[in-house]
Amino acid sequence: MPTRRELFQRAAVGAAFFGLSPARAERAFAHEAPQLPPPTLLDTNPDRYWADLRRQWLLAPDHINLNCGSVGCSPLPVLNAVIDHLLSAEEFREPAYPWFGYEENPRLRELRDALAAYLHCKRDELALVRNATEGNNVVCNGLDLKAGAEVLLTDQEHPGARCCWEQKAARYGITLNTVTLPRPPASVDEVVERFANALTPRTQVVVLSHITTATGLVLPVKEICQLARDRGVLSHVDGAHAIGQIPLDLHDLGCDFYASSPHKWLLAPKGTGTLYVREELLERLWVTIATVGWRDHALKAYRFSNFGTSNLSVMIGLKAALDFHRTLGPDRVYARIHQLASRVRDRLKEYPQIRLTNASTDAFYAGMVSFEPVKGDLKRVQAELAARNVRVAGNQDRLRVATHVFTQSTELNTFFDAVDRGLRG
Ligand SMILES: Cc1ncc(COP(=O)(O)O)c(C=O)c1O
Repeated sequence: MPTRRELFQRAAVGAAFFGLSPARAERAFAHEAPQLPPPTLLDTNPDRYWADLRRQWLLAPDHINLNCGSVGCSPLPVLNAVIDHLLSAEEFREPAYPWFGYEENPRLRELRDALAAYLHCKRDELALVRNATEGNNVVCNGLDLKAGAEVLLTDQEHPGARCCWEQKAARYGITLNTVTLPRPPASVDEVVERFANALTPRTQVVVLSHITTATGLVLPVKEICQLARDRGVLSHVDGAHAIGQIPLDLHDLGCDFYASSPHKWLLAPKGTGTLYVREELLERLWVTIATVGWRDHALKAYRFSNFGTSNLSVMIGLKAALDFHRTLGPDRVYARIHQLASRVRDRLKEYPQIRLTNASTDAFYAGMVSFEPVKGDLKRVQAELAARNVRVAGNQDRLRVATHVFTQSTELNTFFDAVDRGLRG
């Protein structure tokens, strides 16, 4: 339990770190985070439960965040864990070394153990990195592929997954092929068939998002990885959005590599990422940043976390985010995220002026719903959203709405009002 002095110190660091006014920082950090509402309240008064839970975030009441797909927002227990570690480190109370970026220390090992249990893989298969982009690059740059080798990517990959392969193609003469995803898909078979038709005898790697950035589509990763395995092709999954949004079992998915950005849906601090490398492939990957231990295969996946001094405090925050998520209950979190997204889906379906691009069936979306205009553009909807301080992802051609456990029903009503006026106006 921090002392009063420590709480005020925390507020001062919080003010500096997050650019808050001293008064606001004191309100947020000079006290312990509010108690979590009891889970029993969910049965008796769910609206009250979700409204009480919202007190865990600093979120401004006059801004509506329906875009935690781009960056999430950390609850107070996570922010407090980061700030407390920063303070203790700057006071030189922490063990001297190793820091994050070199050999593993006990707190990083504890974090990897917790992540491995949550992701259903082995600790030795998990590296800590700084985001999904880094994880994607480690895989791409670490694989030896000769000129003429082919890599298959979807047409909905984020630049953080696609550009490393574009660079590899420019440097080494590999060929990139693209599989076009239906918007929206009609069935799992339709999607898998497109991958099957796009693979060639020269394809060596298939690269796909678990949940695509462009439309929020949840891809049938297990089926696609099985197809790849049957054809002798490696599978790399960009799971930037998946961790914290949907339940994950990496061994069951059967992929070879999997990168994630827990700063999004797991609500961890920015600058945290995970990379899974299937045990059998650990020695096949070169490191991208070479320092001590670069070829020490006994380090297993931790070899890919040795990249020089990095921010240990955010990794402490990642552990706090995982603890927070598990305290709420991953199933309960998913159920709520999906329930709210379904409300968005059902409402948007009513408008003949727009077309849903992912949420055709329940399995194709989790917490994100996207839509495109049937004709024209969505500029008027964008203007109505901006007028109400509602933040969504996308542009005039397609918008994507993300719901999380901090999202309130009233905020969705404001979003619906903006869409209604924008489409009818
Ligand atoms: C599918 C996907 N991959 C990668 C990224 C990049 O994430 P980061 O900046 O955390 O590396 C994003 C970001 O939105 C994404 O949606």
